[in-house]
Amino acid sequence: MRKIAIYPGTFDPITNGHIDIIERGCKIFEKVIVAVAKATNKECFFTLDERIHLANISIKHINNAEVEGFDGLAVNFVKSKKSSIMIRGFRAVSDFEYELQIAHANRTLCEDIETIFLTPKNKYLYLSSSLVKQIARLGGSIKEYVPDAVQDAIKNKMQKK
Ligand code: COA
Repeated sequence: MRKIAIYPGTFDPITNGHIDIIERGCKIFEKVIVAVAKATNKECFFTLDERIHLANISIKHINNAEVEGFDGLAVNFVKSKKSSIMIRGFRAVSDFEYELQIAHANRTLCEDIETIFLTPKNKYLYLSSSLVKQIARLGGSIKEYVPDAVQDAIKNKMQKK
């Protein structure tokens, strides 16, 4: 059995949709490492340390999941953990091109690493971190989408900005 799977992403911030994927991954693999990327092509709302902290708080109920930050290529992080599996969430058809592009780029970089796609519950199919931040910015409720600690962190940070 393949023991460790890596779930890389920006997690800016982690949402219930991500947590749903982590819970599913944890039923398949002995351990899932949530890998929070420092280098993404997005301008992040939360710092890397904040994203790691919020992910840690949000998954503390899952025994076989842990969180780590990484810099550089995701495939190198996967190899450094002696893993060969990357998990990605696949929500709707709109994810297809983007996810295929990432999976192929990663396969070109490292032939031995497989990407496994997991789908979240229907209610999270159209959820994204940007959507959550947008709703919060406009004063809407994000209770259904993120854990309480994430909700508080978004509100606090928005008040300071
Ligand atoms: N529930 C809720 N939202 C989800 C989701 C789920 N199950 N699955 C994906 N999303 C959302 C995220 O919230 C995010 O929303 P946003 O765009 O509003 O922020 C979006 O889908 C995609 O996010 P994510 O899964 O974090 O991917 P990403 O494109 O932000 O990050 C990396 C991609 C970090 C994995 C990739 O850039 C990477 O590997 N970087 C390291 C450098 C590298 O190796 N590059 C070469 C390979 S591309």
